[in-house]
Amino acid sequence: MNIDGIPTRTLRPHPDRCAIDIIDQTRLPHALHWVRVDTLAGAAHAIRAMQVRGAPLIGATAAYGLAIALDEGADDERLKTAIDTLWKTRPTAVNLHWALTRMSQRLTPLPPAARQQAAWQEAEAIAEEDIAQNLAIGRHGLGLLRQAKRFNGNELNIMTHCNAGWLATVDAGTALSPVYAAYDAGLPVHVWVSETRPRNQGLLTAWELAQHGVPHTVIADNAAGILLRGGKVDAVIVGADRIAANGDVANKVGTYLKALACADNGIPFYVAAPRSTIDFDLPEGHGIRIEERDGDEFRLVHGLDARGVPSALHQLPVREAVANPAFDVTPARLVTAIITERGACPASRDGLLGLYPEEASHG
Ligand code: MRU
Repeated sequence: MNIDGIPTRTLRPHPDRCAIDIIDQTRLPHALHWVRVDTLAGAAHAIRAMQVRGAPLIGATAAYGLAIALDEGADDERLKTAIDTLWKTRPTAVNLHWALTRMSQRLTPLPPAARQQAAWQEAEAIAEEDIAQNLAIGRHGLGLLRQAKRFNGNELNIMTHCNAGWLATVDAGTALSPVYAAYDAGLPVHVWVSETRPRNQGLLTAWELAQHGVPHTVIADNAAGILLRGGKVDAVIVGADRIAANGDVANKVGTYLKALACADNGIPFYVAAPRSTIDFDLPEGHGIRIEERDGDEFRLVHGLDARGVPSALHQLPVREAVANPAFDVTPARLVTAIITERGACPASRDGLLGLYPEEASHG
């Protein structure tokens, strides 16, 4: 996608194959700041601190992080330590574990001297596949958006939650890929962007939609219900952090409430995600580990002060008890369809296996 009109990916591998540059997403939308990642610790920190975030981007960063780690030695012990370190950075997005498993399967059989180069090539393959898959999701999703029941040729109103755009991937996005495809095809698309407290990833969505010129309106999370009830939304489309084999979907906390409101109002609720987000080893969504993040994410409100300087304000006393679950699970029965790079399917085991018959041996 473009930043100030310049095609840009969220990861920039260095030609010497020893480092990558990432966008520090904790500083968006107020500042665009690139950070060099050239150590295992740096890669682990970038994922844990959410400098990079979004399930597909976490997976790609971990793959490059492993390749960077092996630059300092690639014996079995070093390989295992690096995988363990990256594996523990965040628990819910399965793309992280999918990418590290793929890397391990590729690298373990190789002699140590061959591992670093192979790791870098595999990370590049993961990044390129991510982009191609996201673009395919965009094409399949566009077909569904054109059919959205309430779309009468006037404005096509899409609601999304969190950020499943190009910032959450290497490029192109998952849930926003059909939105960009619709906009690029000349459809009169408008996006309702929910703020997504407490970390406000909706502001990242607004920022990247603005970079592409897509009309949008930011809403408080609690405003979604009145818009969905009031006929202002033709379809909701969100990303996913992990999809169980039965079609249950873990996504950013607040997703479930939107799915409920869609069901109550007959509005299609789509989930867009690539194969790497589907956990065929997990039969149902209640087995998904939900990340509980630091309460200060909730107690502190971040923004610019009156002078335009980044600041944080306490909205709660430090000792106030808070709960901060980062994700929730939407049951498959509330999902109209899952859109993958292979097409759209019902949110069910049969639906997913219809697209991925090679996974039938799981569970
Ligand atoms: O905690 P984050 O920001 O890494 O959350 C992940 C997400 O961006 C969303 O849940 C998104 O909808 C799915 S990832 C494309």
